[in-house]
Amino acid sequence: MATTTNKKYDNVIVFGPTGDVGGHAALAASSYGAKVWLAMRTPDKPIPILAHLSPDEEKKQSFTRIHADLTDAASIRAAVQHSGAKAAYVYLVPTADGLASSLAAMRDAGIELVVFLSSFSVPFGAGLDVRAVAPQKLIARAHAAVEANLEDLRVPHVALRPAYFASNPLNMGLDAARFPALEAHIFNGAFEVDCIAPDDIGRVAGALLVAPPPDLLDDKDAANPTGEKAGKKVLYLCGPQLITQDRVFEIIQEVSGRDVAVKHLSKEQWVERQAAHGMPQPVAAYLAEAMEKGFTDDQYRRDMYDQAVANVKEVTGRDAMSFEEYVKVHLDETVSKAAVPGGTFSS
Ligand SMILES: NC(=O)c1ccc[n+]([C@@H]2O[C@H](COP(=O)([O-])OP(=O)(O)OC[C@H]3O[C@@H](n4cnc5c(N)ncnc54)[C@H](OP(=O)(O)O)[C@@H]3O)[C@@H](O)[C@H]2O)c1
Repeated sequence: MATTTNKKYDNVIVFGPTGDVGGHAALAASSYGAKVWLAMRTPDKPIPILAHLSPDEEKKQSFTRIHADLTDAASIRAAVQHSGAKAAYVYLVPTADGLASSLAAMRDAGIELVVFLSSFSVPFGAGLDVRAVAPQKLIARAHAAVEANLEDLRVPHVALRPAYFASNPLNMGLDAARFPALEAHIFNGAFEVDCIAPDDIGRVAGALLVAPPPDLLDDKDAANPTGEKAGKKVLYLCGPQLITQDRVFEIIQEVSGRDVAVKHLSKEQWVERQAAHGMPQPVAAYLAEAMEKGFTDDQYRRDMYDQAVANVKEVTGRDAMSFEEYVKVHLDETVSKAAVPGGTFSS
């Protein structure tokens, strides 16, 4: 009979701490007492969430910067070996092999647990077979490929599958070229989104790096009562309200006290506009299709949605941030850094 290990990690590595989710993951892991290695392509790059700390203060708080590139297995091996970290937070970064060689390098260098930022678009159910995702589901497929590699490499992992980021309307919905004026071009204003805060996703990731789900690291060959593959935990994450895209921009207007000019585009106009702002055309077309029909066949299915909201509180001990709260905290910083058009929307 399997025994349960409530294993804790006090030495963890975060690949991509300059990112919204990676930054919060690093901060959360540190708040739980772990030594946190900040694995970066450019180690002297400012880390927004740690901007208030001097280099000395960063070190005093048990953060250490180290060079690593998620597309370069040798740099990963060196960083993990040097750090001695046993748990790693990992982003999807496009590589021909779905990060297989990078993940193998992590495992071989001593990583025992990966927390991977996957996507809600990897379908719920489907026997949890991540290999069954159709190739035309571009974003789901790319995330599913990494999950499949983690399974094949037998790396115990948590696949976080968040839905629609609260940062999307600010980074991609608002037209950065028009800042400080607030103007948005949207397709399908009636489309409902959950607007989960990257802050919450990162806090979940950081908590799980330090305290993985009980059972995950036990008995990797044993059948798992939830039907998930042994050594794998899937966690859907959603924001606390489903709101239409039209309402999203009304909220930005209400919270900021400033006019938001919303222009409704046809699907074709929206795709053309995103492509003109640098988003690859197939990605823009895929997103427009998703905003018409949903990212999955059973988008926001009630039982999974409720659990996905509850997961934030179950892991972090605090309620998921509302979109209003998110805008209060982040709108000004978004406007002042003039987000890059074509942003990071990649559900
Ligand atoms: N937007 C959505 O609605 C949505 C929904 C579900 C899932 N997702 C997932 O969430 C991701 C976006 O998360 P986010 O907003 O936190 O991202 P983000 O703020 O854009 O940060 C991305 C991070 O990845 C790092 N990175 C990029 N290439 C790297 C490489 N080769 N090696 C090491 N680090 C590298 C970047 O570091 P540098 O500073 O070096 O650039 C940065 O720290 C999407 O890509 C997708 O996988 C998004």
